[in-house]
Amino acid sequence: MTLAELLPSVAASVQPRLAPGIWPTGTHPTPGGDLSFGGIPMTHLAGRFGTPCSLLDEAEVRSRARAFRAALPSAEVAFASKSLPCRSVLRWLAEEGLSLDVCSAGELAVARSIGFPAERIMMHGNVKTPEDLKAALSYRVGRIVIDSLDEIDALAALVAFPQPVLIRVTPGIDAHTHQAIATGVEDQKFGFSLASGAALVAIEKVLATPGLRLVGLHCHLGSQVRRIDGYEEATRRMVGLLARVRDEHQVVLDQLDLGGGFAAAYVDGDGEFDLPGFAHRVRATLGYECSAARLPVPRLTIEPGRSIVANAGVTLYRVITVKHGSRTFVAVDGGMSDNPRPALYGARYTARRIGRHGRAALRPATVVGRHCEAGDVLAEDIPLPEDIRAGDLLAVPGTGAYHYALASNYNMVCRPPLVGVCAGEARLLVRRETEEDVLARDLG
Ligand SMILES: Cc1ncc(COP(=O)(O)O)c(C=O)c1O
Repeated sequence: MTLAELLPSVAASVQPRLAPGIWPTGTHPTPGGDLSFGGIPMTHLAGRFGTPCSLLDEAEVRSRARAFRAALPSAEVAFASKSLPCRSVLRWLAEEGLSLDVCSAGELAVARSIGFPAERIMMHGNVKTPEDLKAALSYRVGRIVIDSLDEIDALAALVAFPQPVLIRVTPGIDAHTHQAIATGVEDQKFGFSLASGAALVAIEKVLATPGLRLVGLHCHLGSQVRRIDGYEEATRRMVGLLARVRDEHQVVLDQLDLGGGFAAAYVDGDGEFDLPGFAHRVRATLGYECSAARLPVPRLTIEPGRSIVANAGVTLYRVITVKHGSRTFVAVDGGMSDNPRPALYGARYTARRIGRHGRAALRPATVVGRHCEAGDVLAEDIPLPEDIRAGDLLAVPGTGAYHYALASNYNMVCRPPLVGVCAGEARLLVRRETEEDVLARDLG
């Protein structure tokens, strides 16, 4: 028996603390069991915008962007727009001086629609269709990151002006993350292998292709990476390749892009990514390796996505039903259509009831969605008040990255709105999808 069960008054006060790093810094408990989000009670936001509803704290996004720029003042910080391709967010980050990574004509269209400076945009992607390449060229994006030999020919056939390009290299580094989001290892679809010599072949081909101007090399180890040693090793290997290009082709490339992947915190104990440690160790490695190879230090680019927006986001759900059995299932009005990450790669989340203080103890419960899949689980075996019931509100933190971007209409469920909150003001960034929106594409 827990202390909370023995003493109900203790249970009432045992509201789990807000785990540091998971919730936006502007989120605070308020009397009555609510949470204030950027100065507004979450229950008010749920009442005004309905549920499910994704909230985004603008101040948190901006301060995380600033932290990257402050940690690496001489580097270029390019936001990976795939993590949250929302116009307002791109506008905030343009104002913060960030560059942008896009990987399709669609992501570029979002950037273009707000006039994101073209010279600060990079286009990535293992498949760039002719439409993607034409869109990139017509907006005159700063760099295109070449990912295949076919792409070199395709791009060369389209360019009207010398186009700066980087080559995406697969450095053969295990970043110790989930297989589905590990992209630096050999034997996968992204980039040119360093070990097999494919990267050098691609470099040679680009150097011999009129219309393409090779300016640097790129790699990306994967996503949700916590360990810094992988980035250090990538730096060593990439500088080694820069030196080979200099030795074999008498070309000194002045840009090195190490990609993104810096981990976000999703559950208690995850902790923050060690950004100062990363900045210090990568800068030191880069300086040392370049001096040993007698190369000028290239301009460094990094491409954070989730580490800027994940922990600025919270999603609000309404509990629709609770089933007690071998486990307690708390079923909510959203699910894998607004958050497929647990089903895709076992991502873990936590949740907190908001809006009422009970006297109940916390018990393990599994938060599930409304979709017709047994794998539609949002948060497994997390502590929730044992008196949780239909009508309660749940707040799930860490939902700012790859939620809006990955959301679907599975079961013809309409996608939730995205609400930006700043200094006590809330504003719809993306409205809720309607059945008319969904039906509009089906021509009958
Ligand atoms: C090339 C590239 N850069 C950056 C990122 C951003 O990764 P994250 O959001 O984990 O920082 C990705 C994500 O897949 C990527 O593919």
